[in-house]
Amino acid sequence: MVPMTTTLAVANQKGGVAKTTSVASIGAALAELGQRVLLVDLDPQACLTFSLGIDPEDLELSVHHVLTKGLDPAEVVIETDDGVDLLPATIELARAEADLLTRTGREQVLRGALDDLAASPTATAYDWVLLDCPPSLGVLTVAALTAADGVLIPLQCETLSHRGVGQLLDTVHDVRRFTNRDLEVWGVLPTLYDGRTNHARAVLENISETYDLEVIGPPIPKTIKFAEAPAAGRSILATSRSSKGARAYRDVAVTLMERSKRGGAKAAR
Ligand SMILES: Nc1ncnc2c1ncn2[C@@H]1O[C@H](COP(=O)(O)OP(=O)(O)OP(=O)(O)O)[C@@H](O)[C@H]1O
Ligand SMILES: [Mg+2]
Repeated sequence: MVPMTTTLAVANQKGGVAKTTSVASIGAALAELGQRVLLVDLDPQACLTFSLGIDPEDLELSVHHVLTKGLDPAEVVIETDDGVDLLPATIELARAEADLLTRTGREQVLRGALDDLAASPTATAYDWVLLDCPPSLGVLTVAALTAADGVLIPLQCETLSHRGVGQLLDTVHDVRRFTNRDLEVWGVLPTLYDGRTNHARAVLENISETYDLEVIGPPIPKTIKFAEAPAAGRSILATSRSSKGARAYRDVAVTLMERSKRGGAKAAR
């Protein structure tokens, strides 16, 4: 059977909704399920890179060189203790936005790089590529949506938390029209969820109805354990193996595995 790669962009231009935490945790959970996983840090803040135990300041090469200088991504990919590979970011990526802005085909740079990686005879054939987007709808997020099969929208279930969702969906529609016809919205992932409140549940229902979006569950509970994981350089799946949060992300990984069978994945090599 031809191996298939599912590329999922984790995007929401709202800050602090657990995009990075979700990429790290879902990545680790998929690796536990025996999947080969590549995580791509597309945020100049490099929080994903840092949270996987890598100090961005120690890196000479990063995703920035891949996107703006055409460097072979296989030369930049690092193995991490969480059982996933990482295409790391450094603060230099902040310049990529400006460097790419005047470049023809800038939307395609990430897709091109991932295609190169998939074609490389020495690189791993990944089952999953998860893209950690920055909190904006700029060039890097559009490049991620252009490279992706699907988009997962982490959402904190609070009043007004949905205000940016319409705008994100508009961007998705533009990407579909101009650069990636096959992009699918997989749905919203409720994060920082306090299920004890009726409010959180009501907001969640309201959002999925208003935007006609699927809810990818279970919701990720709000727990203090998440604050401790990044400093340890491991995801919560390793630092707090049996916590509610780790269990929820494992269940989400299973949901995503099932969702990926519905198609949309591209054949790797
Ligand atoms: N389920 C949770 N319970 C408690 N805290 C959480 C949970 N998920 C994430 N956090 C914390 O919330 C903060 C924001 O999370 P994270 O960095 O993953 O969000 P983000 O969407 O990537 O942010 P940004 O938009 O800045 O990139 C972090 O301090 C993280 O540890
Ligand atoms: Mg982040």
